[in-house]
Amino acid sequence: MRIFQFDTLASTNDYMKENILKYKEYDVVIAKNQTKGKGRQGNIWVSTEGMAMFTFLYKQKVGIKDIEYLKLPLVIGISVIRAMRKIARAHYMFKWTNDVYVDEKKLAGILVEKRKNNFFIGIGLNVNNEIPTELKNTAISMKQINQNKELEIKKIVSAIIEEFKNIMDLFFTTDIWDEVLLEINSINYLKGRRIHFKYGENFKTGVVQDIDKDGNIQILSEKGLESFGVGEVKRERIVISIKNDIINIVKGYILKEYGYDVIFFAEGQITSELFKIVEKLKIKLEVGIDIEAVVKKYNAYNFLEDDKIVPLNNYSYEELLKVLENIKKEN
Ligand code: BTN
Repeated sequence: MRIFQFDTLASTNDYMKENILKYKEYDVVIAKNQTKGKGRQGNIWVSTEGMAMFTFLYKQKVGIKDIEYLKLPLVIGISVIRAMRKIARAHYMFKWTNDVYVDEKKLAGILVEKRKNNFFIGIGLNVNNEIPTELKNTAISMKQINQNKELEIKKIVSAIIEEFKNIMDLFFTTDIWDEVLLEINSINYLKGRRIHFKYGENFKTGVVQDIDKDGNIQILSEKGLESFGVGEVKRERIVISIKNDIINIVKGYILKEYGYDVIFFAEGQITSELFKIVEKLKIKLEVGIDIEAVVKKYNAYNFLEDDKIVPLNNYSYEELLKVLENIKKEN
């Protein structure tokens, strides 16, 4: 592995692609800054100094079926996690297909691009960079995990590529994938969560199960269990206005149990009794005057638009009261 460091590039992925003849397998291009960082699905990747931003090269092997390479993003995710575990303790989670999360917040994103027989593996990992205020709810850095101590980016990059190489050296000749898959499923961020899944022009809503042996996500919907190899995961985040209305709190609790990502909104103050219940349910509470601002902040869905969503349409008012009694009893 050779390391090529730059102060500023448009995008490390693009740079390596444009200069492919200079690079060998596992060579890596690192940039301190990117002016045109790319995310998946054509998104812009906000690139800030202190973040590890790099791309390394992996070559397709002769005689291996294309389907095998669909597992690459998962192997990369696990390589990032294995390397980070050796640096700082945290609950690292793998979010299919290629993100690393800690405490519900994104730590790293991965963008794999292929040209001819070359895979350009681009990783953006929050290391020493300050997380901007508007992303504080959704992103986390290694520095935050590592008791505010800065880490050396070059070392982190080498450690990740090393982990990846250790797996790939055995990938096509041993059953190491089974081991990787077990590990992925033990830290599967989406498992048990209800998601909206976009594939092509279609949508599927259901609860995520294990990742299958081919690296596909399995979703359980009213139609049964289905596997998907490619697609975009959109989790349902719902903002529920609770005013001083205990029933909406119960509804939020039920939705959370079903895997929705619930955020309560209270206009002004709520009573201390309600506050205690909200706290106990571990549901995030936003107090303010403008629910639409909260909906926007979390890129969420306003519960008011549809308060009969699955599974709530199965609950009568009396049943909601029963759930409430149980919540209170557990106090
Ligand atoms: C995502 O989560 O959408 C993937 C983000 C990948 C960002 C990295 S930063 C280094 C490399 N160069 C790019 O332009 N993108 C990747």
